[in-house]
Amino acid sequence: MLFLLSLMTAVGLGNAAAFDKKQASSSSVVPQYYQTSPEPYPGPTATASMAPFLAQTDTVSFASGTLAVNAPLQTAYPITGNTNNSNIFELMGQLSSYFPNPVGFGVNEYSLPPSANISTVHLLSRHGARYPTSDVSVATFGSKVYNLTRNGTAQWTGALSFLNTWRYTLGAEILVARGRQEMFDSGVLFYYNYGSLYNTSKKILARTTTQDRMLKSAEYFMAGMFGLEWTNNVTLINTIEQNYYNNSLAGYFQCNNSNNYRSTGGNNASLVWENIYLANATRRLRAFSGNYNWTVADSYNAQTLCPYETVAYGYSNWCNLFTFDEWQGFEYSIDLQFQGNDGFGSPTGRAVGIGYVEELYARLQGHLYNLPAGATNANVTIDTNNATFPLGQTLYMDFSHDTNIFSIITALGLKQFADQLSNSSITPNRNVTISHMTPFGARVVFEQITTPQPLKATRPKTANATMADFYNSGNQTSYMHMTISQRTVPLGFSYPECGLRDDGWCEMGTFMNVLGGLLNTARYQYSCFGNYTVPGYGAVNNGVPVTKRALGGGMGSGLERKSNSDEYLYRM
Ligand SMILES: *[C@@H]1O[C@H](CO)[C@@H](O)[C@H](O)[C@H]1NC(C)=O
Ligand SMILES: *[C@@H]1O[C@H](CO)[C@@H](O)[C@H](O)[C@H]1NC(C)=O
Ligand SMILES: *[C@@H]1O[C@H](CO)[C@@H](O)[C@H](O)[C@H]1NC(C)=O
Ligand SMILES: *[C@@H]1O[C@H](CO)[C@@H](O)[C@H](O)[C@H]1NC(C)=O
Ligand SMILES: *[C@@H]1O[C@H](CO)[C@@H](O)[C@H](O)[C@H]1NC(C)=O
Ligand SMILES: *[C@@H]1O[C@H](CO)[C@@H](O)[C@H](O)[C@H]1NC(C)=O
Ligand SMILES: *[C@@H]1O[C@H](CO)[C@@H](O)[C@H](O)[C@H]1NC(C)=O
Ligand SMILES: *[C@@H]1O[C@H](CO)[C@@H](O)[C@H](O)[C@H]1NC(C)=O
Ligand SMILES: *[C@@H]1O[C@H](CO)[C@@H](O)[C@H](O)[C@H]1NC(C)=O
Ligand SMILES: *[C@@H]1O[C@H](CO)[C@@H](O)[C@H](O)[C@H]1NC(C)=O
Ligand SMILES: *[C@@H]1O[C@H](CO)[C@@H](O)[C@H](O)[C@H]1NC(C)=O
Ligand SMILES: *[C@@H]1O[C@H](CO)[C@@H](O)[C@H](O)[C@H]1NC(C)=O
Repeated sequence: MLFLLSLMTAVGLGNAAAFDKKQASSSSVVPQYYQTSPEPYPGPTATASMAPFLAQTDTVSFASGTLAVNAPLQTAYPITGNTNNSNIFELMGQLSSYFPNPVGFGVNEYSLPPSANISTVHLLSRHGARYPTSDVSVATFGSKVYNLTRNGTAQWTGALSFLNTWRYTLGAEILVARGRQEMFDSGVLFYYNYGSLYNTSKKILARTTTQDRMLKSAEYFMAGMFGLEWTNNVTLINTIEQNYYNNSLAGYFQCNNSNNYRSTGGNNASLVWENIYLANATRRLRAFSGNYNWTVADSYNAQTLCPYETVAYGYSNWCNLFTFDEWQGFEYSIDLQFQGNDGFGSPTGRAVGIGYVEELYARLQGHLYNLPAGATNANVTIDTNNATFPLGQTLYMDFSHDTNIFSIITALGLKQFADQLSNSSITPNRNVTISHMTPFGARVVFEQITTPQPLKATRPKTANATMADFYNSGNQTSYMHMTISQRTVPLGFSYPECGLRDDGWCEMGTFMNVLGGLLNTARYQYSCFGNYTVPGYGAVNNGVPVTKRALGGGMGSGLERKSNSDEYLYRM
């Protein structure tokens, strides 16, 4: 073994995780998808130009406002209007650090009924907290603020006095310390929940992408789940994450229309909303900007820097410039963006997520992915090979991005999340709340459960219930139970075939029938590459183009890519 390891190091394998002995001795060339070090296609990896020094540098003033503790970082901020000590850090959409969904999705949680068994679990995880993605407007904003200070245009006073010495110092794209912790913690929790499903005699495949934060998120997760020797337990398959490569875990790279104006309805709606909810804040901050005319876009960038600096440094002076209501407005702006860019409000919402859905469908049927190239954005080379497409496992673990996971939820046809969101006021009681669905370290879990007989739709309320209170007579039955952020997604709300069950489960055969229809609904080729027009805000509501196939069909022109990242904030 020692010899083997040094051989692997000698041929540049570094992390020997991905290898078994046969491969190592028969070949000195590591296939790209097994290679973890050095990393192929890692994307940008800029780290911060300043290290945290919270104990010395925290300059947040506690002169006014109500304390809001930033769990789990355990830093604190005064927030005006936060009358009930809520956590503004749970109002930051995809920039919130993971927390379990506090309100659920419409049903209660139930423990497993007697004699039921969980047989298989599929995890779809987001990466952990990170620096801003490369093209995000906060870096340009940071440069502008510094220029304004340096060239004397702005004279910062009052609440903006800190800008006289502030510099933008964040890195880009890669995990911050909090993100590493988040993924480790997620692996620990996953182990407590499902460790028994791991067969210690068999190494299993788990899937992530080559991007630095994606690969490392998977590695930190595995370390939390199995310990530092996790490479004995799991082989990571790292699909290339780059423009024009097929990758179901980063599906927008091979979907032109998801990167052009056709899929920016969410950004457009958010801009309208920002001008409303940030009008007061913009007036307030303008009064502290001297000759510089502070804009709404500046306010939005300022607000966006709060979560980013906080996960990088432990605190940020930007956080307490905004009232509690304005944080609720911020949360809503992100819900608008996701719904309109990546969800049911986007003509490419389903297409981007359908590759993963079809992989799941194949896996649940016990065979390799078998659709022709071009049917979805799945990588056919990787998906048609037993050495790289996981099958026959009891535990499956996949790692992806926020917008991609939201598109997978869309491609699954979970219409519970098809809310039409107003761009002029916060839609109350909406189901799309991104911080409850795809925060940093997000997790979607599918549990396959077998019961000895069909389980009644109404769960008994008494603790002394008997088997007859649980089961109808009949044969052994299987169910799908889906959770997001540790709360049940009631499948019957979106799939009437499943029935309205207390526990939100769906009988497996019924669930599979639903999955069988999703590829056609997604219209992958047309949606991603068709030349169609996009009607006004609100008209797209099923995650596919609303125009007729006959109107378009040409291969697309869309070349304005949004970003090589999981977030699109092009402001400034
Ligand atoms: C706290 O107050 C805000 C604003 O008034 C409200 O929206 C929120 O629901 C309250 N949270 C709790 C837990 O009461
Ligand atoms: C939101 O979810 C609830 C269940 O919590 C459901 O009754 C309702 O129909 C959903 N709303 C939309 C717009 O789908
Ligand atoms: C700030 O000034 C530098 C140097 O003059 C310039 O390169 C940069 O583009 C400016 N940034 C912005 C956002 O204007
Ligand atoms: C100062 O910097 C800002 C931001 O880069 C720029 O827009 C402005 O033109 C500059 N003003 C002067 C006087 O150089
Ligand atoms: C990981 O694999 C090793 C070697 O097969 C095994 O001894 C160990 O129990 C596994 N770890 C867990 C947490 O199951
Ligand atoms: C699929 O993955 C393989 C292995 O990394 C790679 O060589 C190939 O270029 C990928 N194909 C596409 C279409 O992205
Ligand atoms: C702006 O402030 C005014 C006065 O305090 C208040 O009445 C109004 O509701 C605020 N508007 C928004 C959008 O917060
Ligand atoms: C500042 O900008 C706002 C909106 O962009 C505009 O209405 C206002 O006239 C500007 N003020 C000055 C002094 O230029
Ligand atoms: C791949 O795995 C499937 C399911 O276990 C099996 O049916 C198939 O024969 C395998 N194919 C190869 C080439 O090993
Ligand atoms: C179950 O317990 C409840 C009280 O908790 C009692 O009222 C009821 O009679 C019990 N049912 C049976 C079948 O024992
Ligand atoms: C149970 O399974 C048996 C054998 O497959 C079948 O004949 C019977 O119809 C099933 N019963 C029900 C209620 O589905
Ligand atoms: C797309 O459709 C528009 C309007 O029908 C047309 O003007 C344009 O030439 C088409 N572009 C391509 C690339 O087919």
